[in-house]
Amino acid sequence: MSSEPKQRIFSGVQPTGQPHLGNYLGAFRNWARLQSDYDAIYCIVDLHAMTVEYNPADLEAARIDTARVLLALGIDPERSLLYTQSQVSGHAELAWILSTLMPMGVLNRMTQFKDKTTAGHASNLGLYSYPVLMAADILLHRANLVPVGDDQRQHLEVTRDVAERFNNRFGEVFPIPEAYIPETSARVMSLTDPTAKMSKSHSQPKASISILDDPDVIRKRIKSAVTDSDPVVRYDTQAKPGISNLLEIMAACTDRSIDDLVEEYADGGYGPFKMAVAEAVVEELAPVKAAYNALKNGDVREVLRESGRKARELSVGYQAEVYKAVGIKGY
Ligand code: TYM
Repeated sequence: MSSEPKQRIFSGVQPTGQPHLGNYLGAFRNWARLQSDYDAIYCIVDLHAMTVEYNPADLEAARIDTARVLLALGIDPERSLLYTQSQVSGHAELAWILSTLMPMGVLNRMTQFKDKTTAGHASNLGLYSYPVLMAADILLHRANLVPVGDDQRQHLEVTRDVAERFNNRFGEVFPIPEAYIPETSARVMSLTDPTAKMSKSHSQPKASISILDDPDVIRKRIKSAVTDSDPVVRYDTQAKPGISNLLEIMAACTDRSIDDLVEEYADGGYGPFKMAVAEAVVEELAPVKAAYNALKNGDVREVLRESGRKARELSVGYQAEVYKAVGIKGY
Protein backbone atom coordinates (compact mmCIF):
# COMPACT_ATOMS: atom_id res chain seq x y z
CA MET A 1 0.00 0.00 0.00
CA SER A 2 1.35 3.43 -0.94
CA SER A 3 1.58 6.10 1.74
CA GLU A 4 1.93 8.93 -0.81
CA PRO A 5 -0.50 11.75 0.01
CA LYS A 6 -3.25 12.17 -2.57
CA GLN A 7 -2.79 14.92 -5.13
CA ARG A 8 -5.06 17.95 -4.82
CA ILE A 9 -7.83 18.81 -7.26
CA PHE A 10 -9.52 22.17 -7.40
CA SER A 11 -12.25 23.41 -9.71
CA GLY A 12 -14.99 26.01 -9.77
CA VAL A 13 -18.31 26.97 -11.32
CA GLN A 14 -20.08 30.31 -11.49
CA PRO A 15 -23.54 30.39 -9.88
CA THR A 16 -25.19 31.93 -12.93
CA GLY A 17 -28.25 30.30 -14.48
CA GLN A 18 -29.08 26.63 -14.68
CA PRO A 19 -26.01 24.42 -15.18
CA HIS A 20 -26.22 22.72 -18.58
CA LEU A 21 -25.14 19.56 -20.36
CA GLY A 22 -21.85 21.25 -21.36
CA ASN A 23 -20.95 21.95 -17.72
CA TYR A 24 -21.89 18.40 -16.87
CA LEU A 25 -20.02 16.53 -19.61
CA GLY A 26 -17.09 18.98 -19.82
CA ALA A 27 -16.42 19.29 -16.10
CA PHE A 28 -18.83 18.11 -13.38
CA ARG A 29 -18.84 14.46 -14.35
CA ASN A 30 -15.07 14.42 -13.95
CA TRP A 31 -15.37 16.24 -10.63
CA ALA A 32 -17.47 13.36 -9.34
CA ARG A 33 -15.31 10.65 -10.91
CA LEU A 34 -11.99 12.00 -9.64
CA GLN A 35 -13.06 12.20 -6.00
CA SER A 36 -11.88 8.71 -5.11
CA ASP A 37 -8.33 9.18 -6.36
CA TYR A 38 -7.73 12.80 -5.41
CA ASP A 39 -8.20 15.15 -2.52
CA ALA A 40 -10.88 17.32 -4.13
CA ILE A 41 -12.02 20.87 -3.43
CA TYR A 42 -14.91 22.33 -5.42
CA CYS A 43 -15.98 25.94 -5.25
CA ILE A 44 -19.01 27.95 -6.30
CA VAL A 45 -17.32 31.12 -7.45
CA ASP A 46 -19.75 33.85 -6.49
CA LEU A 47 -17.09 36.59 -6.59
CA HIS A 48 -16.48 35.76 -10.25
CA ALA A 49 -20.22 35.92 -10.92
CA MET A 50 -20.15 39.58 -9.80
CA THR A 51 -17.97 40.59 -12.78
CA VAL A 52 -21.06 40.87 -15.02
CA GLU A 53 -24.42 42.49 -14.30
CA TYR A 54 -26.40 40.44 -11.79
CA ASN A 55 -29.26 40.82 -9.34
CA PRO A 56 -28.13 40.56 -5.68
CA ALA A 57 -31.57 39.22 -4.74
CA ASP A 58 -31.03 36.21 -7.05
CA LEU A 59 -27.49 35.29 -6.04
CA GLU A 60 -28.29 33.29 -2.91
CA ALA A 61 -30.81 31.09 -4.72
CA ALA A 62 -28.30 30.56 -7.54
CA ARG A 63 -25.54 29.54 -5.11
CA ILE A 64 -27.76 27.04 -3.32
CA ASP A 65 -29.17 25.68 -6.54
CA THR A 66 -25.71 25.16 -8.04
CA ALA A 67 -24.57 23.38 -4.88
CA ARG A 68 -27.69 21.23 -4.95
CA VAL A 69 -27.02 20.17 -8.54
CA LEU A 70 -23.41 19.32 -7.68
CA LEU A 71 -24.42 17.22 -4.68
CA ALA A 72 -27.10 15.54 -6.80
CA LEU A 73 -24.61 14.52 -9.47
CA GLY A 74 -22.37 12.88 -6.92
CA ILE A 75 -20.08 15.38 -5.21
CA ASP A 76 -19.71 13.66 -1.86
CA PRO A 77 -19.19 15.98 1.11
CA GLU A 78 -17.73 13.07 3.09
CA ARG A 79 -14.81 13.01 0.67
CA SER A 80 -14.63 16.45 -0.95
CA LEU A 81 -15.10 20.07 0.04
CA LEU A 82 -17.87 22.08 -1.60
CA TYR A 83 -18.17 25.73 -0.58
CA THR A 84 -18.67 29.23 -1.97
CA GLN A 85 -15.70 31.44 -2.80
CA SER A 86 -16.87 34.40 -0.67
CA GLN A 87 -16.73 32.21 2.47
CA VAL A 88 -12.92 32.17 2.28
CA SER A 89 -11.23 35.58 2.16
CA GLY A 90 -7.94 34.00 1.02
CA HIS A 91 -9.20 33.88 -2.59
CA ALA A 92 -9.47 37.65 -2.91
CA GLU A 93 -6.34 38.29 -0.82
CA LEU A 94 -4.16 36.01 -2.92
CA ALA A 95 -5.66 37.51 -6.10
CA TRP A 96 -4.31 40.91 -5.00
CA ILE A 97 -0.81 39.55 -4.47
CA LEU A 98 -0.85 37.70 -7.81
CA SER A 99 -2.14 40.80 -9.58
CA THR A 100 1.12 42.54 -8.73
CA LEU A 101 2.95 39.89 -10.79
CA MET A 102 0.54 39.80 -13.72
CA PRO A 103 1.61 41.74 -16.80
CA MET A 104 -1.21 43.73 -18.40
CA GLY A 105 -0.04 42.32 -21.75
CA VAL A 106 -1.05 38.82 -20.65
CA LEU A 107 -4.54 39.95 -19.60
CA ASN A 108 -4.92 41.91 -22.84
CA ARG A 109 -4.77 38.61 -24.72
CA MET A 110 -7.63 36.93 -22.81
CA THR A 111 -10.33 35.86 -25.24
CA GLN A 112 -13.03 35.62 -22.54
CA PHE A 113 -12.72 39.33 -21.73
CA LYS A 114 -13.00 40.17 -25.42
CA ASP A 115 -15.97 37.82 -25.89
CA LYS A 116 -17.84 39.19 -22.88
CA THR A 117 -17.29 42.85 -23.68
CA THR A 118 -18.17 42.24 -27.34
CA ALA A 119 -21.38 40.57 -26.12
CA GLY A 120 -22.27 43.83 -24.36
CA HIS A 121 -21.00 43.34 -20.79
CA ALA A 122 -19.48 46.45 -19.19
CA SER A 123 -15.67 46.31 -19.20
CA ASN A 124 -15.04 46.72 -15.46
CA LEU A 125 -11.71 46.01 -13.76
CA GLY A 126 -13.05 42.85 -12.12
CA LEU A 127 -13.96 41.34 -15.49
CA TYR A 128 -10.51 42.27 -16.82
CA SER A 129 -8.70 40.70 -13.88
CA TYR A 130 -11.04 37.66 -13.73
CA PRO A 131 -8.16 35.29 -14.67
CA VAL A 132 -6.10 36.54 -11.70
CA LEU A 133 -8.86 35.61 -9.25
CA MET A 134 -9.19 32.25 -10.98
CA ALA A 135 -5.43 31.67 -10.63
CA ALA A 136 -5.76 32.59 -6.95
CA ASP A 137 -8.55 30.02 -6.49
CA ILE A 138 -6.36 27.26 -7.86
CA LEU A 139 -3.09 28.30 -6.23
CA LEU A 140 -4.62 29.14 -2.84
CA HIS A 141 -5.29 25.41 -2.41
CA ARG A 142 -2.03 24.27 -4.04
CA ALA A 143 -3.96 22.30 -6.66
CA ASN A 144 -2.10 19.85 -8.88
CA LEU A 145 -4.97 19.13 -11.25
CA VAL A 146 -7.89 21.25 -12.46
CA PRO A 147 -10.79 19.45 -14.18
CA VAL A 148 -12.40 21.91 -16.62
CA GLY A 149 -13.90 22.16 -20.09
CA ASP A 150 -11.90 23.30 -23.10
CA ASP A 151 -12.98 26.96 -22.73
CA GLN A 152 -10.84 27.31 -19.57
CA ARG A 153 -7.59 26.26 -21.28
CA GLN A 154 -6.32 29.81 -21.64
CA HIS A 155 -7.08 30.62 -17.99
CA LEU A 156 -5.11 27.55 -16.91
CA GLU A 157 -2.13 28.71 -18.97
CA VAL A 158 -2.26 32.07 -17.18
CA THR A 159 -2.46 30.31 -13.83
CA ARG A 160 0.65 28.25 -14.61
CA ASP A 161 2.42 31.36 -15.84
CA VAL A 162 1.70 33.43 -12.73
CA ALA A 163 2.61 30.51 -10.43
CA GLU A 164 5.99 30.30 -12.16
CA ARG A 165 6.50 34.06 -11.87
CA PHE A 166 5.72 33.86 -8.14
CA ASN A 167 8.01 30.88 -7.55
CA ASN A 168 10.88 32.51 -9.47
CA ARG A 169 10.53 35.76 -7.57
CA PHE A 170 9.76 34.50 -4.03
CA GLY A 171 10.74 30.82 -3.87
CA GLU A 172 8.97 27.53 -4.58
CA VAL A 173 5.56 27.96 -2.96
CA PHE A 174 3.09 26.79 -5.61
CA PRO A 175 2.89 23.48 -7.48
CA ILE A 176 2.36 24.17 -11.20
CA PRO A 177 -1.19 22.91 -11.90
CA GLU A 178 -2.27 20.87 -14.93
CA ALA A 179 -5.61 21.16 -16.69
CA TYR A 180 -7.66 17.95 -16.84
CA ILE A 181 -9.83 18.18 -19.95
CA PRO A 182 -11.96 15.27 -21.22
CA GLU A 183 -11.16 13.76 -24.63
CA THR A 184 -14.72 13.92 -25.90
CA SER A 185 -17.29 16.56 -24.95
CA ALA A 186 -14.68 19.08 -23.77
CA ARG A 187 -16.62 21.69 -25.73
CA VAL A 188 -20.31 20.85 -26.03
CA MET A 189 -21.79 23.05 -28.70
CA SER A 190 -25.06 24.97 -28.95
CA LEU A 191 -27.95 22.96 -30.40
CA THR A 192 -29.11 25.89 -32.53
CA ASP A 193 -25.66 27.06 -33.67
CA PRO A 194 -23.18 24.18 -33.49
CA THR A 195 -20.27 26.52 -34.24
CA ALA A 196 -20.74 28.25 -30.83
CA LYS A 197 -20.30 26.57 -27.46
CA MET A 198 -23.31 25.72 -25.30
CA SER A 199 -23.50 28.44 -22.67
CA LYS A 200 -25.71 29.66 -19.84
CA SER A 201 -26.17 33.02 -21.54
CA HIS A 202 -27.96 31.81 -24.69
CA SER A 203 -30.98 33.94 -25.38
CA GLN A 204 -32.63 30.97 -27.13
CA PRO A 205 -33.64 28.23 -24.64
CA LYS A 206 -33.55 25.70 -27.51
CA ALA A 207 -29.77 26.13 -27.75
CA SER A 208 -29.02 24.21 -24.58
CA ILE A 209 -30.13 21.38 -22.29
CA SER A 210 -30.23 22.06 -18.58
CA ILE A 211 -29.06 19.27 -16.28
CA LEU A 212 -32.53 19.37 -14.70
CA ASP A 213 -34.65 19.48 -17.87
CA ASP A 214 -37.55 17.02 -18.10
CA PRO A 215 -37.05 14.05 -20.46
CA ASP A 216 -39.59 15.43 -22.94
CA VAL A 217 -37.81 18.77 -23.12
CA ILE A 218 -34.50 16.96 -23.73
CA ARG A 219 -36.08 14.87 -26.52
CA LYS A 220 -37.59 17.94 -28.18
CA ARG A 221 -34.36 19.93 -28.01
CA ILE A 222 -32.28 17.15 -29.54
CA LYS A 223 -34.89 16.44 -32.20
CA SER A 224 -34.79 20.09 -33.27
CA ALA A 225 -30.97 20.40 -33.03
CA VAL A 226 -29.53 22.09 -36.12
CA THR A 227 -27.70 19.62 -38.37
CA ASP A 228 -27.15 19.58 -42.15
CA SER A 229 -28.85 18.21 -45.24
CA ASP A 230 -26.52 15.30 -46.02
CA PRO A 231 -28.14 12.41 -44.14
CA VAL A 232 -24.99 10.39 -43.35
CA VAL A 233 -23.98 10.24 -39.67
CA ARG A 234 -20.26 10.93 -39.72
CA TYR A 235 -17.78 12.81 -37.47
CA ASP A 236 -16.48 15.94 -39.20
CA THR A 237 -16.47 19.09 -37.05
CA GLN A 238 -15.90 21.36 -40.06
CA ALA A 239 -18.44 20.00 -42.54
CA LYS A 240 -20.90 18.53 -40.01
CA PRO A 241 -20.61 20.45 -36.73
CA GLY A 242 -24.16 19.63 -35.57
CA ILE A 243 -23.88 15.87 -36.08
CA SER A 244 -20.34 15.85 -34.66
CA ASN A 245 -21.63 17.59 -31.54
CA LEU A 246 -24.39 15.00 -31.12
CA LEU A 247 -21.88 12.20 -31.64
CA GLU A 248 -19.67 13.64 -28.90
CA ILE A 249 -22.63 14.02 -26.55
CA MET A 250 -23.74 10.44 -27.15
CA ALA A 251 -20.21 9.05 -26.86
CA ALA A 252 -19.79 10.81 -23.51
CA CYS A 253 -23.18 9.67 -22.19
CA THR A 254 -22.74 6.04 -23.22
CA ASP A 255 -18.97 5.70 -22.74
CA ARG A 256 -18.80 4.35 -26.30
CA SER A 257 -16.31 5.52 -28.94
CA ILE A 258 -17.35 7.85 -31.73
CA ASP A 259 -16.17 5.27 -34.30
CA ASP A 260 -18.41 2.67 -32.75
CA LEU A 261 -21.43 5.00 -32.88
CA VAL A 262 -20.71 6.00 -36.48
CA GLU A 263 -20.57 2.34 -37.44
CA GLU A 264 -23.98 1.72 -35.90
CA TYR A 265 -25.80 4.88 -37.06
CA ALA A 266 -24.03 5.98 -40.28
CA ASP A 267 -26.74 5.00 -42.76
CA GLY A 268 -29.89 4.92 -40.66
CA GLY A 269 -30.76 8.60 -41.18
CA TYR A 270 -30.75 11.49 -38.72
CA GLY A 271 -34.17 10.75 -37.15
CA PRO A 272 -33.26 7.45 -35.46
CA PHE A 273 -29.79 8.76 -34.56
CA LYS A 274 -31.23 11.82 -32.82
CA MET A 275 -33.69 9.63 -30.93
CA ALA A 276 -30.84 7.45 -29.68
CA VAL A 277 -28.83 10.52 -28.62
CA ALA A 278 -31.85 11.88 -26.74
CA GLU A 279 -32.40 8.60 -24.90
CA ALA A 280 -28.72 8.45 -23.92
CA VAL A 281 -28.91 11.99 -22.46
CA VAL A 282 -32.22 11.28 -20.68
CA GLU A 283 -30.75 8.16 -19.12
CA GLU A 284 -27.59 9.96 -18.03
CA LEU A 285 -29.42 12.89 -16.40
CA ALA A 286 -32.42 11.11 -14.85
CA PRO A 287 -30.61 10.04 -11.65
CA VAL A 288 -29.25 13.57 -11.17
CA LYS A 289 -32.72 15.06 -11.32
CA ALA A 290 -34.09 12.46 -8.91
CA ALA A 291 -31.28 13.13 -6.42
CA TYR A 292 -31.76 16.89 -6.82
CA ASN A 293 -35.44 16.58 -5.94
CA ALA A 294 -34.61 14.52 -2.87
CA LEU A 295 -32.21 17.14 -1.44
CA LYS A 296 -33.35 19.93 0.87
CA ASN A 297 -31.91 23.45 0.76
CA GLY A 298 -31.20 23.30 4.49
CA ASP A 299 -28.95 20.28 4.05
CA VAL A 300 -27.15 22.01 1.19
CA ARG A 301 -26.47 25.07 3.38
CA GLU A 302 -25.06 22.80 6.08
CA VAL A 303 -22.61 21.25 3.59
CA LEU A 304 -21.48 24.69 2.43
CA ARG A 305 -21.06 25.92 5.99
CA GLU A 306 -18.99 22.93 7.08
CA SER A 307 -16.88 22.74 3.90
CA GLY A 308 -16.35 26.50 4.02
CA ARG A 309 -15.07 26.22 7.56
CA LYS A 310 -12.58 23.52 6.57
CA ALA A 311 -11.47 25.40 3.45
CA ARG A 312 -10.91 28.55 5.53
CA GLU A 313 -8.77 26.62 7.98
CA LEU A 314 -6.68 25.17 5.17
CA SER A 315 -6.32 28.53 3.46
CA VAL A 316 -5.06 30.31 6.58
CA GLY A 317 -2.08 27.93 6.78
CA TYR A 318 -1.39 28.21 3.07
CA GLN A 319 -1.66 31.98 3.06
CA ALA A 320 0.77 32.30 5.98
CA GLU A 321 3.35 30.68 3.71
CA VAL A 322 2.60 33.21 0.94
CA TYR A 323 2.75 36.20 3.29
CA LYS A 324 6.06 35.05 4.66
CA ALA A 325 7.47 34.58 1.14
CA VAL A 326 6.41 38.06 -0.02
CA GLY A 327 7.64 39.76 3.18
CA ILE A 328 4.40 40.58 5.00
CA LYS A 329 4.58 38.06 7.84
CA GLY A 330 2.04 38.84 10.61
CA TYR A 331 2.94 40.14 14.09
P1 TYM B 1 -18.22 28.09 -15.79
O1 TYM B 1 -19.06 28.39 -14.62
O2 TYM B 1 -18.47 28.86 -17.05
O3 TYM B 1 -18.33 26.55 -16.19
C1 TYM B 1 -18.10 25.51 -15.26
C2 TYM B 1 -17.35 24.39 -15.96
O4 TYM B 1 -18.08 23.93 -17.11
C3 TYM B 1 -17.24 23.92 -18.25
N1 TYM B 1 -18.04 24.26 -19.45
C4 TYM B 1 -18.13 23.49 -20.54
N2 TYM B 1 -17.57 22.30 -20.85
C5 TYM B 1 -17.89 21.76 -22.06
N3 TYM B 1 -18.73 22.36 -22.95
C6 TYM B 1 -19.30 23.54 -22.69
N4 TYM B 1 -20.13 24.12 -23.57
C7 TYM B 1 -19.01 24.17 -21.43
N5 TYM B 1 -19.41 25.34 -20.84
C8 TYM B 1 -18.80 25.37 -19.63
C9 TYM B 1 -16.20 25.00 -17.98
O5 TYM B 1 -15.02 24.77 -18.74
C10 TYM B 1 -15.98 24.84 -16.49
O6 TYM B 1 -15.03 23.82 -16.24
N6 TYM B 1 -13.91 30.47 -14.92
C11 TYM B 1 -14.69 29.29 -14.59
C12 TYM B 1 -14.94 29.14 -13.09
C13 TYM B 1 -13.73 29.14 -12.22
C14 TYM B 1 -12.78 28.08 -12.10
C15 TYM B 1 -11.86 28.52 -11.11
C16 TYM B 1 -12.63 26.87 -12.75
C17 TYM B 1 -13.38 30.12 -11.34
N7 TYM B 1 -12.26 29.74 -10.67
C18 TYM B 1 -10.79 27.71 -10.75
C19 TYM B 1 -11.53 26.06 -12.37
C20 TYM B 1 -10.63 26.51 -11.38
C21 TYM B 1 -16.03 29.39 -15.27
O7 TYM B 1 -16.53 30.46 -15.54
O8 TYM B 1 -16.67 28.19 -15.40
